Amino acid sequence: MPAWESAVQREVIVRRTAADAADAAAAAFMAIVRDALRHQNVCHIALSGGTTPYLLYKDLASAAAISDLPWGGIEVFFADERDVPHDDIESNYNMALRTLLNNVPVQPTRVHPMRCDAPDLQAAAAEYEQTLRKIVPAGPDGVPVLDLILLGMGADGHTASLFPGTEALNESVKLVLAYHVPVLGRSRLTFTYPLINAARNVVFLVTGEDKAPAVAALLGNDPDARKNIPSACVAPKNGKLTLILDQAAAKMTSIEPVQ
Ligand code: 6PG
Repeated sequence: MPAWESAVQREVIVRRTAADAADAAAAAFMAIVRDALRHQNVCHIALSGGTTPYLLYKDLASAAAISDLPWGGIEVFFADERDVPHDDIESNYNMALRTLLNNVPVQPTRVHPMRCDAPDLQAAAAEYEQTLRKIVPAGPDGVPVLDLILLGMGADGHTASLFPGTEALNESVKLVLAYHVPVLGRSRLTFTYPLINAARNVVFLVTGEDKAPAVAALLGNDPDARKNIPSACVAPKNGKLTLILDQAAAKMTSIEPVQ
């Protein structure tokens, strides 16, 4: 499995507050989208769920970001989803709709939710992989290359729905996986490493003190500590990895915040 320090380009950005970190993530998002749309007609992105992206999505739905970005050229996917209907409060798609997608001029036909309430989740995962393969141009190894994947990280180091100690971490063929996550007692759909690590840009937004031990393990030099952190295997092969933290999440590292 790749190790995070093997990413071709990586950058760690620390800001004082969660709001400042969200602002930095919004700036990174806008720069990546603008850059992609200079070279191509469509920019392919994937969003994550959880609670951390609220502030980021709010920034992106602000008047300035709405007028500044060609939203019509953005094709939106999701890096993972919970096993609930789309109108459920726990749905990542639902959260993204409420905070971002309903408030920006994105084309509804360019938004691709995962069908995580389908009776056959394996089929839903395979169907999502086919959708990605159909819409997103592939790299030389045949894997679709998303321009941007936004990720968060749990206190246990999970990212997307790649949880510690699960079969999902060893998946090398499927790009989207449906599986039962023992620690949740629930099923999830998730991008796997081969798809994440094919992306042109991966941006993590991680805030809050509860993430500090996982961040320290991720950025530290102890390979044993990193072994249990699924986020540590995110290493885009030909892309850029950016980790955006607030001071609370970075407090067990020696990296100081920059305004
Ligand atoms: C999800 C995610 C997941 C999330 C982390 C962090 O569906 O929950 O996509 O990987 O990013 O669990 O979640 P918080 O932002 O809530 O801490």
